[in-house]
Amino acid sequence: MIRYQTKNLAPWVDDNVLAAMQTQVTAAHELLASRKGPGADFLGWTEPAKIVPAAELAAIKDAAKRIQNDSELLVTVGIGGSYLGARAVLEALPLAEDGVDVTFAGYHLSANDAEGLFDMLDDYDDISVNVISKSGTTTEPAIAFRLLKAYMEERYGKEGSKSRIYATTDKAKGALRKVANEEGYTTFVIPDDIGGRFSVLTPVGLLPIAAAGHDIDALLAGAQEAFVKYSSNNDVLKNDCLRYAATRAALYRQGKGIEIFSVFEPGLQYYVEWWKQLFGESEGKNRTGIFPAGCVFTTDLHSMGQWIQDGNRTAFETFLIEEKPDSEIEVPALNDDSDGLEYLAGKTLGEINLEAWRGTAAAHFDGGIPNQTFLIDTLDEGTIGELIHFFERACGVSGYLGGVNPFDQPGVEAYKKNMFALLGKPGFEKQAEALRAKLG
Ligand code: PA5
Repeated sequence: MIRYQTKNLAPWVDDNVLAAMQTQVTAAHELLASRKGPGADFLGWTEPAKIVPAAELAAIKDAAKRIQNDSELLVTVGIGGSYLGARAVLEALPLAEDGVDVTFAGYHLSANDAEGLFDMLDDYDDISVNVISKSGTTTEPAIAFRLLKAYMEERYGKEGSKSRIYATTDKAKGALRKVANEEGYTTFVIPDDIGGRFSVLTPVGLLPIAAAGHDIDALLAGAQEAFVKYSSNNDVLKNDCLRYAATRAALYRQGKGIEIFSVFEPGLQYYVEWWKQLFGESEGKNRTGIFPAGCVFTTDLHSMGQWIQDGNRTAFETFLIEEKPDSEIEVPALNDDSDGLEYLAGKTLGEINLEAWRGTAAAHFDGGIPNQTFLIDTLDEGTIGELIHFFERACGVSGYLGGVNPFDQPGVEAYKKNMFALLGKPGFEKQAEALRAKLG
Protein backbone atom coordinates (compact mmCIF):
# COMPACT_ATOMS: atom_id res chain seq x y z
CA MET A 1 0.00 0.00 0.00
CA ILE A 2 1.22 3.48 -0.88
CA ARG A 3 1.01 6.05 1.92
CA TYR A 4 1.20 9.74 1.03
CA GLN A 5 2.65 12.30 3.47
CA THR A 6 1.98 15.92 2.65
CA LYS A 7 2.75 17.90 5.81
CA ASN A 8 5.86 19.52 4.28
CA LEU A 9 3.78 21.09 1.50
CA ALA A 10 2.14 23.78 3.60
CA PRO A 11 2.30 26.79 3.27
CA TRP A 12 2.51 26.33 -0.52
CA VAL A 13 -0.26 23.77 -0.95
CA ASP A 14 -2.94 22.77 1.53
CA ASP A 15 -6.47 21.35 1.45
CA ASN A 16 -7.94 24.76 0.60
CA VAL A 17 -5.68 25.20 -2.43
CA LEU A 18 -6.51 21.69 -3.61
CA ALA A 19 -10.24 21.98 -2.96
CA ALA A 20 -10.28 25.11 -5.11
CA MET A 21 -8.91 22.97 -7.97
CA GLN A 22 -11.60 20.27 -7.65
CA THR A 23 -13.50 21.22 -10.80
CA GLN A 24 -10.34 21.12 -12.94
CA VAL A 25 -9.23 17.85 -11.37
CA THR A 26 -12.61 16.22 -11.95
CA ALA A 27 -12.56 17.37 -15.56
CA ALA A 28 -9.01 16.03 -16.11
CA HIS A 29 -9.76 12.67 -14.48
CA GLU A 30 -13.01 12.30 -16.39
CA LEU A 31 -11.24 13.09 -19.63
CA LEU A 32 -9.05 10.06 -18.95
CA ALA A 33 -12.02 7.84 -18.03
CA SER A 34 -14.24 8.94 -20.91
CA ARG A 35 -11.40 8.56 -23.43
CA LYS A 36 -12.35 11.85 -25.03
CA GLY A 37 -9.20 13.85 -24.32
CA PRO A 38 -6.14 14.43 -26.51
CA GLY A 39 -4.22 11.21 -27.09
CA ALA A 40 -7.24 9.06 -26.24
CA ASP A 41 -6.06 6.41 -28.71
CA PHE A 42 -3.24 5.64 -26.27
CA LEU A 43 -5.17 4.70 -23.15
CA GLY A 44 -4.76 0.94 -23.37
CA TRP A 45 -2.76 0.97 -20.12
CA THR A 46 -5.52 2.40 -17.90
CA GLU A 47 -6.86 -0.95 -16.65
CA PRO A 48 -3.89 -3.24 -15.97
CA ALA A 49 -5.87 -6.51 -15.80
CA LYS A 50 -7.03 -5.95 -19.36
CA ILE A 51 -3.68 -5.06 -20.93
CA VAL A 52 -2.43 -8.57 -21.73
CA PRO A 53 -4.88 -11.31 -22.78
CA ALA A 54 -4.56 -14.57 -20.81
CA ALA A 55 -3.13 -16.50 -23.79
CA GLU A 56 -0.42 -13.86 -24.34
CA LEU A 57 0.44 -13.93 -20.64
CA ALA A 58 0.80 -17.71 -20.77
CA ALA A 59 3.02 -17.39 -23.86
CA ILE A 60 5.22 -14.85 -22.04
CA LYS A 61 5.62 -17.24 -19.11
CA ASP A 62 6.44 -20.13 -21.49
CA ALA A 63 9.06 -18.06 -23.28
CA ALA A 64 10.53 -16.98 -19.93
CA LYS A 65 10.81 -20.64 -18.87
CA ARG A 66 12.47 -21.52 -22.17
CA ILE A 67 14.99 -18.72 -21.70
CA GLN A 68 15.67 -19.90 -18.15
CA ASN A 69 16.17 -23.48 -19.39
CA ASP A 70 18.52 -22.74 -22.24
CA SER A 71 20.32 -19.54 -21.22
CA GLU A 72 22.19 -17.88 -18.38
CA LEU A 73 21.79 -14.38 -19.75
CA LEU A 74 19.07 -12.48 -21.58
CA VAL A 75 20.19 -9.43 -23.57
CA THR A 76 17.29 -7.00 -23.79
CA VAL A 77 17.58 -4.54 -26.66
CA GLY A 78 15.51 -1.34 -26.56
CA ILE A 79 15.47 2.35 -25.68
CA GLY A 80 13.15 4.80 -23.87
CA GLY A 81 9.83 3.18 -23.11
CA SER A 82 11.07 -0.06 -24.64
CA TYR A 83 13.82 -0.23 -22.02
CA LEU A 84 13.35 1.80 -18.85
CA GLY A 85 10.34 0.02 -17.35
CA ALA A 86 11.94 -3.42 -17.35
CA ARG A 87 15.20 -2.02 -15.99
CA ALA A 88 13.35 -0.09 -13.27
CA VAL A 89 11.57 -3.21 -12.04
CA LEU A 90 14.58 -5.51 -12.33
CA GLU A 91 16.90 -3.21 -10.41
CA ALA A 92 14.33 -2.52 -7.71
CA LEU A 93 13.75 -6.19 -6.90
CA PRO A 94 16.22 -8.57 -5.27
CA LEU A 95 17.61 -11.27 -7.59
CA ALA A 96 15.18 -14.17 -7.97
CA GLU A 97 16.38 -17.75 -7.60
CA ASP A 98 15.24 -19.25 -10.90
CA GLY A 99 15.91 -16.24 -13.05
CA VAL A 100 18.52 -15.56 -15.69
CA ASP A 101 20.74 -12.50 -15.60
CA VAL A 102 19.38 -9.69 -17.73
CA THR A 103 21.53 -7.06 -19.38
CA PHE A 104 20.54 -4.13 -21.57
CA ALA A 105 21.70 -2.96 -24.98
CA GLY A 106 20.52 -0.57 -27.68
CA TYR A 107 19.78 2.33 -25.33
CA HIS A 108 22.66 4.52 -26.57
CA LEU A 109 25.22 4.65 -29.36
CA SER A 110 28.39 4.15 -27.36
CA ALA A 111 31.12 2.17 -29.12
CA ASN A 112 32.93 1.60 -25.83
CA ASP A 113 29.88 0.09 -24.25
CA ALA A 114 29.26 -2.16 -27.27
CA GLU A 115 32.82 -3.52 -26.98
CA GLY A 116 32.21 -4.24 -23.30
CA LEU A 117 28.92 -5.98 -24.06
CA PHE A 118 30.45 -8.41 -26.56
CA ASP A 119 33.31 -9.20 -24.19
CA MET A 120 30.77 -9.97 -21.50
CA LEU A 121 28.62 -12.19 -23.73
CA ASP A 122 31.57 -14.49 -24.31
CA ASP A 123 31.75 -15.10 -20.54
CA TYR A 124 28.30 -16.69 -20.51
CA ASP A 125 27.74 -20.32 -21.54
CA ASP A 126 24.46 -19.56 -23.28
CA ILE A 127 22.46 -16.46 -24.03
CA SER A 128 19.16 -15.30 -25.54
CA VAL A 129 18.15 -11.94 -26.96
CA ASN A 130 14.88 -10.02 -26.60
CA VAL A 131 14.72 -7.15 -29.08
CA ILE A 132 12.00 -4.62 -28.26
CA SER A 133 10.79 -1.77 -30.46
CA LYS A 134 7.24 -0.65 -31.07
CA SER A 135 8.03 1.22 -34.26
CA GLY A 136 10.59 -1.40 -35.22
CA THR A 137 12.71 1.34 -36.74
CA THR A 138 14.39 3.17 -33.84
CA THR A 139 18.05 3.65 -34.73
CA GLU A 140 19.80 2.79 -31.45
CA PRO A 141 18.16 -0.62 -30.86
CA ALA A 142 18.17 -1.37 -34.60
CA ILE A 143 21.97 -0.95 -34.76
CA ALA A 144 22.46 -2.96 -31.55
CA PHE A 145 20.23 -5.72 -32.89
CA ARG A 146 22.04 -5.85 -36.22
CA LEU A 147 25.26 -6.44 -34.26
CA LEU A 148 23.68 -8.95 -31.89
CA LYS A 149 21.93 -10.89 -34.65
CA ALA A 150 25.27 -11.33 -36.41
CA TYR A 151 26.86 -12.37 -33.10
CA MET A 152 24.11 -14.92 -32.38
CA GLU A 153 24.29 -16.38 -35.90
CA GLU A 154 28.05 -16.70 -35.61
CA ARG A 155 27.77 -18.32 -32.20
CA TYR A 156 24.74 -20.59 -32.68
CA GLY A 157 24.48 -20.83 -36.47
CA LYS A 158 21.70 -19.28 -38.54
CA GLU A 159 19.13 -21.90 -37.51
CA GLY A 160 20.28 -22.28 -33.91
CA SER A 161 20.07 -18.55 -33.27
CA LYS A 162 16.40 -18.33 -34.27
CA SER A 163 15.05 -20.09 -31.20
CA ARG A 164 17.12 -17.77 -28.98
CA ILE A 165 15.84 -14.49 -30.36
CA TYR A 166 12.53 -13.02 -29.17
CA ALA A 167 11.06 -9.93 -30.80
CA THR A 168 8.57 -7.65 -29.07
CA THR A 169 7.08 -5.22 -31.58
CA ASP A 170 4.03 -4.00 -33.47
CA LYS A 171 1.64 -6.67 -34.69
CA ALA A 172 2.16 -5.77 -38.36
CA LYS A 173 4.26 -2.65 -38.98
CA GLY A 174 7.99 -1.90 -38.97
CA ALA A 175 11.30 -3.39 -40.04
CA LEU A 176 11.60 -5.49 -36.88
CA ARG A 177 8.25 -7.18 -37.52
CA LYS A 178 9.38 -7.96 -41.04
CA VAL A 179 12.68 -9.49 -39.93
CA ALA A 180 10.99 -11.43 -37.11
CA ASN A 181 8.43 -12.91 -39.51
CA GLU A 182 11.06 -13.79 -42.10
CA GLU A 183 13.34 -15.42 -39.53
CA GLY A 184 10.54 -17.11 -37.60
CA TYR A 185 11.44 -15.63 -34.21
CA THR A 186 9.03 -15.98 -31.31
CA THR A 187 7.22 -12.64 -31.22
CA PHE A 188 5.15 -10.65 -28.77
CA VAL A 189 2.87 -7.78 -29.67
CA ILE A 190 3.01 -4.25 -28.24
CA PRO A 191 -0.62 -3.09 -28.25
CA ASP A 192 -1.43 -0.26 -30.67
CA ASP A 193 -3.09 1.74 -27.93
CA ILE A 194 -0.14 1.88 -25.51
CA GLY A 195 2.77 4.27 -25.99
CA GLY A 196 6.34 3.34 -25.02
CA ARG A 197 6.55 5.00 -21.62
CA PHE A 198 3.25 3.41 -20.54
CA SER A 199 4.23 -0.06 -21.80
CA VAL A 200 6.06 -1.73 -18.91
CA LEU A 201 3.04 -3.93 -18.11
CA THR A 202 2.85 -5.22 -21.70
CA PRO A 203 5.22 -7.89 -23.11
CA VAL A 204 7.79 -5.05 -23.35
CA GLY A 205 8.45 -5.29 -19.63
CA LEU A 206 6.81 -8.58 -18.74
CA LEU A 207 9.07 -10.93 -20.73
CA PRO A 208 12.41 -9.71 -19.32
CA ILE A 209 10.90 -9.43 -15.84
CA ALA A 210 9.53 -12.99 -16.00
CA ALA A 211 12.79 -14.33 -17.47
CA ALA A 212 14.59 -12.80 -14.48
CA GLY A 213 12.38 -15.01 -12.30
CA HIS A 214 9.93 -12.45 -10.95
CA ASP A 215 6.23 -12.93 -10.42
CA ILE A 216 4.50 -11.02 -13.20
CA ASP A 217 1.06 -12.01 -11.92
CA ALA A 218 1.82 -10.20 -8.67
CA LEU A 219 3.13 -7.18 -10.59
CA LEU A 220 -0.08 -6.96 -12.62
CA ALA A 221 -2.22 -7.60 -9.53
CA GLY A 222 -0.52 -4.71 -7.71
CA ALA A 223 -1.19 -2.43 -10.66
CA GLN A 224 -4.80 -3.57 -10.87
CA GLU A 225 -5.23 -2.87 -7.15
CA ALA A 226 -4.03 0.68 -7.76
CA PHE A 227 -6.47 0.99 -10.66
CA VAL A 228 -9.39 -0.08 -8.46
CA LYS A 229 -8.32 2.27 -5.70
CA TYR A 230 -7.50 5.39 -7.70
CA SER A 231 -9.81 5.29 -10.71
CA SER A 232 -13.19 5.41 -9.03
CA ASN A 233 -13.09 8.56 -6.92
CA ASN A 234 -12.75 12.11 -8.23
CA ASP A 235 -12.34 13.75 -4.80
CA VAL A 236 -8.98 15.52 -4.82
CA LEU A 237 -8.77 15.38 -1.01
CA LYS A 238 -9.52 11.65 -0.83
CA ASN A 239 -7.85 10.22 -3.93
CA ASP A 240 -4.06 10.42 -3.40
CA CYS A 241 -3.32 9.97 -7.08
CA LEU A 242 -5.39 13.03 -7.94
CA ARG A 243 -4.04 14.87 -4.93
CA TYR A 244 -0.50 14.34 -6.18
CA ALA A 245 -1.40 15.49 -9.72
CA ALA A 246 -3.15 18.60 -8.37
CA THR A 247 -0.31 19.37 -5.96
CA ARG A 248 2.19 19.33 -8.82
CA ALA A 249 0.00 21.66 -10.85
CA ALA A 250 -0.47 24.01 -7.89
CA LEU A 251 3.27 24.16 -7.22
CA TYR A 252 4.03 24.71 -10.90
CA ARG A 253 1.62 27.62 -10.96
CA GLN A 254 3.60 29.10 -8.03
CA GLY A 255 6.82 29.02 -10.06
CA LYS A 256 8.09 25.66 -8.92
CA GLY A 257 9.16 24.36 -12.32
CA ILE A 258 11.38 21.48 -11.20
CA GLU A 259 10.27 18.32 -9.46
CA ILE A 260 13.07 16.35 -7.84
CA PHE A 261 12.09 12.72 -7.36
CA SER A 262 14.34 11.50 -4.57
CA VAL A 263 14.90 8.00 -3.28
CA PHE A 264 17.14 6.59 -0.57
CA GLU A 265 17.65 3.24 -2.26
CA PRO A 266 20.16 2.76 -5.13
CA GLY A 267 17.97 -0.08 -6.43
CA LEU A 268 15.37 2.57 -7.25
CA GLN A 269 17.71 4.58 -9.49
CA TYR A 270 16.07 3.22 -12.62
CA TYR A 271 12.61 3.65 -11.17
CA VAL A 272 13.57 7.32 -10.95
CA GLU A 273 14.71 7.20 -14.60
CA TRP A 274 11.43 5.56 -15.62
CA TRP A 275 9.47 8.22 -13.69
CA LYS A 276 11.54 10.99 -15.34
CA GLN A 277 10.74 9.70 -18.82
CA LEU A 278 7.08 9.22 -17.93
CA PHE A 279 6.58 12.80 -16.81
CA GLY A 280 9.16 14.48 -19.05
CA GLU A 281 7.88 13.07 -22.33
CA SER A 282 4.27 13.41 -21.28
CA GLU A 283 4.28 17.00 -20.01
CA GLY A 284 7.15 18.84 -21.65
CA LYS A 285 5.21 20.44 -24.48
CA ASN A 286 4.15 23.82 -25.86
CA ARG A 287 6.95 25.48 -23.88
CA THR A 288 5.38 24.35 -20.60
CA GLY A 289 5.81 21.51 -18.14
CA ILE A 290 7.64 20.67 -14.94
CA PHE A 291 11.24 19.51 -15.45
CA PRO A 292 11.47 16.06 -13.85
CA ALA A 293 14.78 15.61 -12.07
CA GLY A 294 15.94 12.79 -9.83
CA CYS A 295 18.31 12.08 -6.97
CA VAL A 296 19.52 8.96 -5.22
CA PHE A 297 20.25 9.78 -1.59
CA THR A 298 22.17 9.81 0.55
CA THR A 299 24.74 9.67 -2.31
CA ASP A 300 23.44 12.82 -4.00
CA LEU A 301 23.15 14.71 -0.72
CA HIS A 302 26.91 15.00 -1.08
CA SER A 303 26.56 16.59 -4.52
CA MET A 304 23.09 17.93 -5.36
CA GLY A 305 22.23 18.40 -1.69
CA GLN A 306 23.81 21.85 -1.61
CA TRP A 307 21.70 23.14 -4.52
CA ILE A 308 18.52 21.69 -3.11
CA GLN A 309 19.14 23.13 0.35
CA ASP A 310 20.39 26.50 -0.73
CA GLY A 311 20.16 27.17 -4.46
CA ASN A 312 17.46 29.06 -6.33
CA ARG A 313 14.00 28.21 -5.03
CA THR A 314 12.34 26.84 -8.16
CA ALA A 315 12.02 23.20 -7.15
CA PHE A 316 9.85 20.94 -5.09
CA GLU A 317 10.71 17.43 -4.02
CA THR A 318 8.92 14.09 -4.02
CA PHE A 319 10.40 11.29 -1.94
CA LEU A 320 9.74 7.59 -2.49
CA ILE A 321 10.69 5.67 0.64
CA GLU A 322 10.85 1.95 1.44
CA GLU A 323 10.04 1.79 5.15
CA LYS A 324 10.73 -1.88 5.85
CA PRO A 325 13.61 -3.16 3.75
CA ASP A 326 14.11 -6.94 3.98
CA SER A 327 17.65 -6.73 5.34
CA GLU A 328 18.29 -6.64 9.09
CA ILE A 329 21.98 -5.79 8.70
CA GLU A 330 23.05 -3.68 11.66
CA VAL A 331 25.99 -1.61 12.84
CA PRO A 332 28.23 -3.81 15.02
CA ALA A 333 29.39 -2.78 18.49
CA LEU A 334 33.01 -1.65 18.91
CA ASN A 335 34.24 -1.52 22.50
CA ASP A 336 36.73 1.32 22.20
CA ASP A 337 34.44 3.45 19.99
CA SER A 338 37.54 4.54 18.06
CA ASP A 339 35.42 5.70 15.11
CA GLY A 340 32.90 7.56 17.29
CA LEU A 341 29.98 5.53 15.93
CA GLU A 342 29.04 3.61 19.06
CA TYR A 343 25.79 5.60 19.36
CA LEU A 344 24.70 3.70 16.23
CA ALA A 345 25.64 0.21 17.44
CA GLY A 346 22.71 -2.17 17.14
CA LYS A 347 20.76 0.06 14.78
CA THR A 348 19.92 -1.44 11.40
CA LEU A 349 21.04 0.33 8.23
CA GLY A 350 17.36 0.51 7.31
CA GLU A 351 16.62 2.49 10.49
CA ILE A 352 19.54 4.82 9.88
CA ASN A 353 18.44 5.39 6.27
CA LEU A 354 14.93 6.29 7.44
CA GLU A 355 16.31 8.90 9.81
CA ALA A 356 18.39 10.24 6.91
CA TRP A 357 15.15 10.71 4.94
CA ARG A 358 13.38 12.35 7.89
CA GLY A 359 16.30 14.68 8.49
CA THR A 360 16.58 15.53 4.79
CA ALA A 361 12.89 16.21 4.31
CA ALA A 362 12.88 18.53 7.34
CA ALA A 363 16.06 20.33 6.23
CA HIS A 364 14.83 20.83 2.68
CA PHE A 365 11.50 22.12 3.98
CA ASP A 366 13.36 24.58 6.22
CA GLY A 367 15.40 25.61 3.18
CA GLY A 368 12.21 26.51 1.29
CA ILE A 369 11.67 23.32 -0.72
CA PRO A 370 8.09 22.07 -0.53
CA ASN A 371 8.23 18.31 -0.24
CA GLN A 372 5.99 15.28 -0.12
CA THR A 373 6.65 11.60 0.47
CA PHE A 374 5.29 8.32 -0.79
CA LEU A 375 5.96 5.50 1.66
CA ILE A 376 5.80 1.81 0.88
CA ASP A 377 6.59 -1.13 3.16
CA THR A 378 8.88 -3.38 1.13
CA LEU A 379 9.86 -3.41 -2.52
CA ASP A 380 8.21 -6.44 -4.10
CA GLU A 381 6.36 -7.14 -7.33
CA GLY A 382 2.98 -6.12 -5.92
CA THR A 383 4.19 -2.79 -4.57
CA ILE A 384 6.07 -1.95 -7.74
CA GLY A 385 2.99 -2.74 -9.83
CA GLU A 386 1.01 -0.41 -7.60
CA LEU A 387 3.58 2.36 -7.96
CA ILE A 388 3.68 1.97 -11.74
CA HIS A 389 -0.05 2.41 -12.13
CA PHE A 390 -0.22 5.18 -9.53
CA PHE A 391 2.31 7.35 -11.38
CA GLU A 392 0.98 6.51 -14.85
CA ARG A 393 -2.52 7.60 -13.82
CA ALA A 394 -1.19 10.69 -12.03
CA CYS A 395 0.80 11.54 -15.16
CA GLY A 396 -2.25 11.33 -17.43
CA VAL A 397 -4.23 13.58 -15.11
CA SER A 398 -1.29 15.98 -14.69
CA GLY A 399 -0.93 16.30 -18.46
CA TYR A 400 -4.60 17.13 -18.87
CA LEU A 401 -4.41 19.60 -15.96
CA GLY A 402 -1.51 21.27 -17.76
CA GLY A 403 -3.48 21.46 -21.01
CA VAL A 404 -1.23 19.16 -23.09
CA ASN A 405 -1.62 15.82 -24.80
CA PRO A 406 0.25 13.57 -22.34
CA PHE A 407 0.39 10.65 -24.77
CA ASP A 408 2.44 11.92 -27.70
CA GLN A 409 6.12 12.90 -27.98
CA PRO A 410 6.57 15.03 -31.11
CA GLY A 411 9.69 16.70 -29.69
CA VAL A 412 11.66 13.45 -29.76
CA GLU A 413 11.74 13.59 -33.57
CA ALA A 414 13.86 16.75 -33.92
CA TYR A 415 17.23 15.23 -32.98
CA LYS A 416 16.46 12.10 -35.01
CA LYS A 417 15.88 14.10 -38.19
CA ASN A 418 19.16 15.96 -37.75
CA MET A 419 21.04 12.75 -37.00
CA PHE A 420 19.56 11.00 -40.06
CA ALA A 421 20.48 13.99 -42.21
CA LEU A 422 24.05 14.06 -40.90
CA LEU A 423 24.43 10.31 -41.37
CA GLY A 424 23.19 10.46 -44.96
CA LYS A 425 19.92 8.55 -44.59
CA PRO A 426 18.11 8.49 -47.96
CA GLY A 427 15.29 11.05 -48.05
CA PHE A 428 17.08 13.53 -45.78
CA GLU A 429 19.32 15.16 -48.42
CA LYS A 430 17.73 18.63 -48.30
CA GLN A 431 17.79 18.74 -44.54
CA ALA A 432 21.43 17.64 -44.58
CA GLU A 433 22.38 20.52 -46.85
CA ALA A 434 20.58 23.08 -44.69
CA LEU A 435 22.04 21.62 -41.50
CA ARG A 436 25.61 21.58 -42.84
CA ALA A 437 25.27 25.21 -43.87
CA LYS A 438 24.05 26.05 -40.36
CA LEU A 439 26.71 24.04 -38.57
CA GLY A 440 29.48 25.46 -40.72
O1 PA5 B 1 7.84 6.57 -24.83
C1 PA5 B 1 8.12 6.52 -26.00
O2 PA5 B 1 7.25 6.48 -26.89
C2 PA5 B 1 9.56 6.47 -26.47
O3 PA5 B 1 10.43 6.59 -25.40
C3 PA5 B 1 9.84 5.14 -27.16
O4 PA5 B 1 9.57 4.08 -26.28
C4 PA5 B 1 11.29 5.05 -27.64
O5 PA5 B 1 11.58 6.11 -28.50
C5 PA5 B 1 11.54 3.73 -28.37
O6 PA5 B 1 10.65 3.57 -29.41
P1 PA5 B 1 10.43 2.18 -30.11
O7 PA5 B 1 9.82 1.25 -29.13
O8 PA5 B 1 9.52 2.47 -31.25
O9 PA5 B 1 11.77 1.69 -30.57
